[in-house]
Amino acid sequence: MRIAVIGAGYVGLVSGACFSDFGFEVVIVDKDKSRIARLEAGKIPIYEPGLEDLVARNRDAGRLSFTASLPAAMKRADAVFIAVGTPTRRGDGFADLTYVYAAADEIARCLAGPCVVVCKSTVPIGTNREVLRRIKAIRPDAAVDVASNPEFLREGSAIEDFKRPDRVVVGAESEQARAVMQSLYRPLSLNETPILFTGLETAELIKYAANAFLATKITFINEVADLCERVGANVQEVARGIGLDRRIGPKFLHAGPGYGGSCFPKDTLALVSTARSAGAPIRIVEAVVDVNEARKRAMAERVLAALDGDLSGKTVAVLGLTFKPNTDDMREAPSLVIVPALQAAGARIRAHDPEGMAEAAKLLDDVEWCDGPYHAAEGSDAIVVITEWDAYRALDVVRLKRLMKGDAFFDLRNIYKTAEMADRGFRHFGIGIGQPGIAEKVAEPLKSVAV
Ligand code: NAD
Ligand code: UDX
Repeated sequence: MRIAVIGAGYVGLVSGACFSDFGFEVVIVDKDKSRIARLEAGKIPIYEPGLEDLVARNRDAGRLSFTASLPAAMKRADAVFIAVGTPTRRGDGFADLTYVYAAADEIARCLAGPCVVVCKSTVPIGTNREVLRRIKAIRPDAAVDVASNPEFLREGSAIEDFKRPDRVVVGAESEQARAVMQSLYRPLSLNETPILFTGLETAELIKYAANAFLATKITFINEVADLCERVGANVQEVARGIGLDRRIGPKFLHAGPGYGGSCFPKDTLALVSTARSAGAPIRIVEAVVDVNEARKRAMAERVLAALDGDLSGKTVAVLGLTFKPNTDDMREAPSLVIVPALQAAGARIRAHDPEGMAEAAKLLDDVEWCDGPYHAAEGSDAIVVITEWDAYRALDVVRLKRLMKGDAFFDLRNIYKTAEMADRGFRHFGIGIGQPGIAEKVAEPLKSVAV
């Protein structure tokens, strides 16, 4: 089997490299010639653990190559994957399908033999059918089928997620498309990965529903965390207590500064827009979008409140800028809201991120970039940990405290324990960690019950 992949981004690169690792012949094409030149020189344009070795191994074996020419990539291809971006369209929240449709039109012009066009990009309901219509309009003679094959990998663990997914979803409506997709995913049968064959619309909606559900789960625990703080409960214990119920499950219950990234924010918005225009609004997701936006701003307000409502002349050390660890992706990272809000309140920012500083420097102004967490802490009034990189999980907090001017530690990922930090001279502010017995106001209505 020979595969062409359009788009050498997070999804295209990882999928293409993994398919080649399974033994297929893969050509990845990108219109960005400099990206292709870098890949041909052995340089990976994104930070994703394990990807550099995976790409090198398969290039050396002659199964994986890169090109800027779609006709060359599509020569003798049994399947062509579209893995281009589907960002939020300005103004209405819908997904912008410019890149997907451009890729479809280019494919139509390059089709030589029978081929299945597989949409791996996250696309709204109806897109795959439109892709087929466009291709047929340009090439009525073409022996072409479409398949919707949404991708569920997470950045930072993308290779493992691709090779060992919980399931593969394939929307396909012809025997040929189903047969090609079955062959492409046969390597996963060793792990007994379920392959769910559905219609096109269903596959498209599964992707949005999955992301919206996970975003809802995170937002739910984030609001429970706020309540924990008010009533003296501990959100980590609440999460464990509910997560052990197998109907709920323990994952995606880590309270934090709000979800970010290239998928949840844009896909929840797109689902909200689609559902509204279909006359079936999903109000719970609308609330999730609003609550998550407000939460990022609220993180900066916490810092402001703990530092007496005034950050002018104060220095804040920010640790972790990417939307999650093990990626250099800054798309919709909470830091992009928190840092400017701290600056607007007068703070000077010293920041560090293990892999994201080059990308972050393009998006954040007036930040002093530091060599590491200890460098960032020098002379600071407060430390704010936004992203839970491994490098911040066992900090020498005594050393940090000595380097700082102040004593406030905002731990937006609950890495450290408040009592232990207090022993080392810190005022530690976690997320959703209330002090038992503080719930005077909560008890008030109960007191009025006559005995
Ligand atoms: P990306 O922005 O990292 O990469 C897209 C690439 O496509 C870019 O390099 C761009 O130059 C290239 N491209 C665009 N149009 C092209 C064309 N006509 N010909 C050749 N190359 C073209 O995007 P991504 O993060 O990999 O996301 C791709 C899709 O996958 C999106 O729909 C996204 O929602 C979805 N997705 C992403 C993730 C993730 O974790 N990033 C996970 C699951 C699904
Ligand atoms: C997500 C989906 O998980 C994946 O299936 C889809 O293909 C792409 O979008 P990704 O954005 O790479 O993956 O990372 P993920 O681990 O899902 O985290 C997304 C955001 O949610 C991050 O900002 C993360 O910090 C946050 N998050 C996640 C929490 O705040 N708490 C959690 O418990 C989990």
